Amino acid sequence: MNPAKGPTPDFGIRPGEQAVALPASPDAGVYFIGRIHTPWTERKDCPKNARESDAVCTVEVEARYAPALKEVETCSHLVLLYWMDKAPRNLVLQTPSHYATQRGTFSLRSPARPNPIALSVVKLLGVDGNKLSVVGLDCLDGTPLLDIKPYFASTDSVPDAVVGWHKRKDERDRSGGLRLRTRSSPRKRGSKEA
Ligand SMILES: C[S@@+](CC[C@H](N)C(=O)[O-])C[C@H]1O[C@@H](n2cnc3c(N)ncnc32)[C@H](O)[C@@H]1O
Repeated sequence: MNPAKGPTPDFGIRPGEQAVALPASPDAGVYFIGRIHTPWTERKDCPKNARESDAVCTVEVEARYAPALKEVETCSHLVLLYWMDKAPRNLVLQTPSHYATQRGTFSLRSPARPNPIALSVVKLLGVDGNKLSVVGLDCLDGTPLLDIKPYFASTDSVPDAVVGWHKRKDERDRSGGLRLRTRSSPRKRGSKEA
């Protein structure tokens, strides 16, 4: 398998996981609109979610789409959608290493899914031509970018949302605020974050 085009060996199937045969051809195609540059080149170093790191990352939008960035600089936060190009697409049941409980792909934020689309709400630090400086990413360096949208706190924020299997942690976060990993407090081994 070409690592630039598909799953890498560190995504091998674990005990308790189930894969299915995918359809012979996809129903639609996407255009990658740019690439995301992050400090992480290996999964083991990558944050598990967007709030785990305060690293400044660069979103490089292809020159042809630069006009589409007009007024993006007025946004404090953006929703980024990106393509987890190194993840397998055929898993329906997964046992993430940090949970060891079998769960359905659609109840997880795992990058392994039929359409390996990830999202993050990022803080926009600045725009320089076709490059955006942002904080709040959890992807490998070079991850393809699918879309950029403004984050509307008034409509996108759902403060009482609950994930049942993760409830206790959600409640902790709500009462204790976000736990942000900083350079001086690296992610702990075996951290139980989604
Ligand atoms: C758990 S996912 C969360 C993704 C996103 N925040 C979301 O909720 O949609 C983040 C993990 O995906 C993996 N990952 C990062 N970049 C990837 C890529 N380009 N291809 C496949 N997996 C990737 C890393 O293991 C990283 O810790």
